[in-house]
Amino acid sequence: MIRIAIDGPAGVGKSSTAKALARYYELAYLDTGAMYRAATWWCMHRGIDLDAGQPDERLITETVAELFTQGHFDINTDPGAPDSERVFCDNENISEAIRSSEVSSHVSVVSSIIPVRHLLIAAQRAYIAEECAEHSFSEGRGIVAEGRDITDVVAPNAEVRILLTARDDVRQARRERQAKAGRAGAEDVSARDALDAKVTNFMVAPDGVATIDNSELTFEQTLDVMIGLVDDAI
Ligand code: C5P
Repeated sequence: MIRIAIDGPAGVGKSSTAKALARYYELAYLDTGAMYRAATWWCMHRGIDLDAGQPDERLITETVAELFTQGHFDINTDPGAPDSERVFCDNENISEAIRSSEVSSHVSVVSSIIPVRHLLIAAQRAYIAEECAEHSFSEGRGIVAEGRDITDVVAPNAEVRILLTARDDVRQARRERQAKAGRAGAEDVSARDALDAKVTNFMVAPDGVATIDNSELTFEQTLDVMIGLVDDAI
């Protein structure tokens, strides 16, 4: 059983490399950003005003708790599943809706509410524990989980911990290419990072976390560096 934790800013390519790594080692894959996005989508869907100067933190927390504790939410942890079929709410496929510009521009409002984070951290730890148990997907071989606080908060005991980073201009250009290809909404990634950095630490690697700067690396080269780190750990 191995747990691989990957953190990093927006547009760095965490999801694609984490998924490829999970496929390579036949592990499960958990996109924790998708959970914060689903929480945001759900609040917007319920008509909660996330643009208010002072968002109603208690209402948002109660609404998010309903999503995650009353069986409305489902996420596919098979790294081979298509991105268009990964996240569901009451059996409605919301995989594409959670990538919209509206969700991207409001997600930091929801993710910066500390009781919301506690709910999601607990849910993420439960997924990790479940995937590492013997009866589950890929026979409990383990999981790759990616996000902003996996290496230091959600799974600080993970066997491999990586901070994936890249220069701002490189990340912005990657996100623009994704937006043109219809795989993400257009956005300013640095603005979202600045908001996210107030509540999570994904800019500087804590002790024991390996940093990979992939500004000058191709996707395959990034994956090779990660595989090297994992192979050293197992
Ligand atoms: O990874 P992604 O860009 O999809 O994440 C969406 C948002 O979810 C982030 O901008 C951040 O606000 C939040 N997030 C978080 N902690 C995580 C993962 C994501 O706060 N572990």
